[in-house]
Amino acid sequence: MAHPDAPHPLRAAAPSRGLSGRHAVPGDKSISHRALMFGALAVGTTEISGLLEGEDVLRTAAAMRALGAEVEQTGPGAWRVAGRGVGGLVEPTDVLDMGNSGTAARLLCGLLAGHPIFAVMTGDASLRKRPMQRVTAPLSATGASFWTRAGGRLPLAVQGAAEALPLDYTLPVASAQVKSACLLAGLCARGTTRIIEPERTRDHTENMLRHFGATVRVEDLAHGRLIELEGQPELAAAPILVPGDPSSAAFLLVAALLVPGSRVTVENVGLNPLRTGLFATLREMGARLTVENARVAGGEPVGDVTAEYGPLQGVEVPPGRAPSMIDEYPVLAVAAAAAAGETRMRGLSELRVKESDRLAATAALLAANGIAARIEGDDLVVTGTSGAIPGGGLVATHMDHRLAMSALVMGLAARAPVAVDDAAFIETSFPGFAALLNLAAGEPAIGPA
Ligand code: S3P
Repeated sequence: MAHPDAPHPLRAAAPSRGLSGRHAVPGDKSISHRALMFGALAVGTTEISGLLEGEDVLRTAAAMRALGAEVEQTGPGAWRVAGRGVGGLVEPTDVLDMGNSGTAARLLCGLLAGHPIFAVMTGDASLRKRPMQRVTAPLSATGASFWTRAGGRLPLAVQGAAEALPLDYTLPVASAQVKSACLLAGLCARGTTRIIEPERTRDHTENMLRHFGATVRVEDLAHGRLIELEGQPELAAAPILVPGDPSSAAFLLVAALLVPGSRVTVENVGLNPLRTGLFATLREMGARLTVENARVAGGEPVGDVTAEYGPLQGVEVPPGRAPSMIDEYPVLAVAAAAAAGETRMRGLSELRVKESDRLAATAALLAANGIAARIEGDDLVVTGTSGAIPGGGLVATHMDHRLAMSALVMGLAARAPVAVDDAAFIETSFPGFAALLNLAAGEPAIGPA
């Protein structure tokens, strides 16, 4: 597996004409991780199509192999997983290296907690800074034991529970990763696992559990949601069709909104309503964003999304929307920089614990390119330029793929080119990003710095 260890500087400049064409983006990262994990826990062979073949997901594939599942690629995006059944994973003979991927690491903690095996997990320098207590604390109540570095950081060791107990847990933060880790542990537990999330977060885990035959009950509460899972189901292998990742489509679509003369369609984009907060926000800003061919594919809503260049207006983004667009704030900040007036994005505390401190790093990205932005508590406030982004900055990406892509999108729409110190981590989620944007631009607008 290629490892993004050599820095890869890139630079983006305004293309001579607008972006155009119909395009597809790689498969959804969240769904891809889950497809491999649930495939490994199912009885039978799961055929996956459209799998994201980015570094993060390849780490999950390698971990499932290390835990005894047979995982093989049968074609581009086509993968086959021969599962071991719930409770059937075996002790890995070496350290599991989850690279840059918080989702892989946290979901895997849940999976390991329910199996009576010993495992050690690590990650790259970014992942080794991220908090794991948010999963190890609740998962310890299953009977599993975790040992971590100070502050709950990786590397960690886990001794899974011999007979896992079902959790009854209310999440203190809105996190689909924590919810999913608890549900994965619940698969191995006897009895009903009950999870309450204070705010609704992406429900791919719940959807896929049902798809594989587990019993999952969901009840909307006045504040949030109760999820109940019956433990020790027999998961039956089932085919999975991974839609295009809306979090990746976001970059191409925002570029089209900001570069004069653009009209771009991204086909087969996942439109799970718990993922589409960015699209709602952009529409409130006046974006010309339309969905066609809306349908359900593989149990998830999908559609073809078209974005057309036009003026944007600053808005206030409510904190309750954060879970449905948690990965999209850096690129929304770029759109806000191009809008008229001020945009206030509220309630962004969770951005501080992403691949980088994305709140500080997004503010720095804007400042480096002549945009007035400030952090007020957990809010990010951006003063728009009505389409006149100065640009000209060099952006520090802090091993964070989404910062790199957001900065390059800004460069396509700015007066002076924007450079990033390291674009290597784009490979974690969006292989072919620069080539796809250049295809849409009809020229090499993104190239070596
Ligand atoms: C993800 C959940 C989110 C998101 C991440 C993917 C998932 O993280 O930022 O990119 O697949 O469950 P949190 O659950 O920490 O908010």
